[in-house]
Amino acid sequence: MRTLIFSDVHANQQALMAVIAAAGHWDEAACLGDWVGYGAAPGAVLAWAQTAKVLTIRGNHDRACATGDGIASFTPDAAQSAHWTHAQLSTTERQWLAALPPGPQSWNGMLLAHGSPRDEDEYVIGLDTAAAIFAGTTDAVQWIGHTHLQGGFVLTGGVVALLGMSPTGRTELRLDPTARYLLNPGSVGQPRDGDPRAAFAIAGNPGDTVTFHRVAYDLAAAQAAILAAGLPPRLARRLQTGT
Ligand SMILES: [Fe+2]
Repeated sequence: MRTLIFSDVHANQQALMAVIAAAGHWDEAACLGDWVGYGAAPGAVLAWAQTAKVLTIRGNHDRACATGDGIASFTPDAAQSAHWTHAQLSTTERQWLAALPPGPQSWNGMLLAHGSPRDEDEYVIGLDTAAAIFAGTTDAVQWIGHTHLQGGFVLTGGVVALLGMSPTGRTELRLDPTARYLLNPGSVGQPRDGDPRAAFAIAGNPGDTVTFHRVAYDLAAAQAAILAAGLPPRLARRLQTGT
């Protein structure tokens, strides 16, 4: 069993194609939301999403770009890109996005959420927040996205710790059956952890191993597409720094 888990594609076609190529064969795949927003290729990534066999839960940008819900709380750059994306999408694409099920969803013995199991819009960054999520759930392995930070947290013996990621772009995690995990595959299309490479994860058999990956992609093409679309230049610049 080889399961591809990814999140936060954000209409970055070049990054998505690189992840698909690097992931190789997979038996099943799940996306933790935010197919669109920020990037310049919403139609291309949705075309792939609608035909690929990928279980998807809704992200806050999917919701905002499809329905407008949540744009009011976005940063100016995010709001501009959400309005732009909304205008690019066909009625069918908006309906597809709006119909995505929100998390949390149980899948293959794991729990999937966009922000957190208790709130689609929550950023799980600190140890205290992770501890609260662990306290409110029972699942051994939970997956979240939204922060665009690859890695996550482990709960062992009542203590929550941050998982360390290797700078090599490949980090293998052997799951401890006595521990619990809150894992984040990172962002495909707009990483914010200082590594501009596209991020994804591969899970083996349930309770076995999880491997976190990074892959370089045609970043210049993704940046050029953002600028050509008239989207905020900062959305192109930040791809280069991974911030
Ligand atoms: Fe996102």
